[in-house]
Amino acid sequence: APATEATTPASAVQPIGPEDEPVLAAERARRTSDGTVRDVELTAAPASVDLGGQTVETWAFNGAVPGPEIRLREGEVLRAVVRNGLPEPLTMHWHGIALRNDMDGVPDLTQEAISPGASFTYEFTVPDAGTYFYHPHTGTQLDRGLYGALIVEDELAPAEDGANDVTVLLDDWLDGLGQEPDEVLEGLTGGGGGHDMGAMDDMDMGAAAMDDMEMASPGRPLGGDTSDVDYPLYLVNGKSAPELPVGAGPLRLRLVNAGSDTPFRVAVGGARLTVVATDGFPVRPVTVDALVIGMGERYDVMVDVPGGSGLPLVATVEGGDGGARALLRSGPETIPTAGSRPSELDGDLLRLEDLVAADDVRLRPETPDRTFEISMRGDMQAYQWALDAPAEDGTSMPVREGERIRMVFRNDTMMWHPIHLHGHTFQVTTDGKPGARKDTVIVPPMETVVVEFDADNPGAWALHCHNIYHAEAGMVTVVSYV
Ligand code: C2O
Ligand code: CU
Repeated sequence: APATEATTPASAVQPIGPEDEPVLAAERARRTSDGTVRDVELTAAPASVDLGGQTVETWAFNGAVPGPEIRLREGEVLRAVVRNGLPEPLTMHWHGIALRNDMDGVPDLTQEAISPGASFTYEFTVPDAGTYFYHPHTGTQLDRGLYGALIVEDELAPAEDGANDVTVLLDDWLDGLGQEPDEVLEGLTGGGGGHDMGAMDDMDMGAAAMDDMEMASPGRPLGGDTSDVDYPLYLVNGKSAPELPVGAGPLRLRLVNAGSDTPFRVAVGGARLTVVATDGFPVRPVTVDALVIGMGERYDVMVDVPGGSGLPLVATVEGGDGGARALLRSGPETIPTAGSRPSELDGDLLRLEDLVAADDVRLRPETPDRTFEISMRGDMQAYQWALDAPAEDGTSMPVREGERIRMVFRNDTMMWHPIHLHGHTFQVTTDGKPGARKDTVIVPPMETVVVEFDADNPGAWALHCHNIYHAEAGMVTVVSYV
């Protein structure tokens, strides 16, 4: 059936009552506060960077990968001058932040791209504490070194030196190692849509598809089939094996997947992970051995360090057919041997349905005003990917301020798709039960994920797969306030 049949016709939509107005007014106020202004300058330009052993030519913000970590407090205003020193247009997106629409950094939707040599000043209030990141929203630039963490501090984060508040940015890397992201995209799309139909017969396709499914399910180990691209390197905070100093006492890791094409499986040898937030929003704490983090997702975890402190811990992240490791050095003890693979990686794995939003951020129960059924289509052969979303009068997914919107993401493909909505934090629903507040959710092959959000931030907002190659191959649509 066409997806449009699942859409509530405009005539059936409940009018927004006066009871909604105070809530909406409060939301507007949160986005336009005149809090303390924090100034940053970010220049995107070609740079040589050391990945921990090898130096590559790439593109970076302020000459470093990752770019500078931006930290501010809830309610403050970020004023970021972004200069474009690249040979192509650029925009900056502040991933996960419920900011004003005209600062969202989507070219041709919320702004004109910044031309080479030009600059643009972004200025917006950050309304919610949490772990976010920034990256360009232009072409395959994210798959170079153009990204950095954006941390909006809350009371859990030490205000002063941040010793035990450690950001862990994960990335899949190929730039400067014989291939560039644009060439990879061209290779995947066969240089603009052409492809080799004879490459696989039907039997092979079936087997490969089954493999994908086995490998990709979040309950199973990750294998090479969750990614479309073969990466020679995986990085933690811009290095293939960094040491991250941590102090004594509780340890909070802010995990961010800034990779373009790779979900990572993360564990810390000898410790369990207590998930306290995802995509910036707190959850009821859940303790596991390992978790899988999709592109664009974030998890804040408390690490329960055995024996208190003083032990060097190894965080192991596996993506594709390789891994990367980070030594969390909290003391002088013997360093675990290189290449050791903690058994926790195969232990108790976080499941999406285990997560429930903390009481103060859970959406109040409400009947949705509209339901959009959005289906994912595409395959590796043609390398054309799509998010089929319903439209009305030529407007894709029209919503009105004040409405409760339900989105049903149906994955009709054999690939993973981390689906990301701009400007809002939806709430996952499993069997009618409220789950985590998130802005990016993995929809596994042939599965359906249901989310709801309050339409409280007017504008035109991108909804897309955070596999950057899928997005570039068409997996993008828009939620439009009308
Ligand atoms: Cu992080 Cu539209 O993306
Ligand atoms: Cu995808």
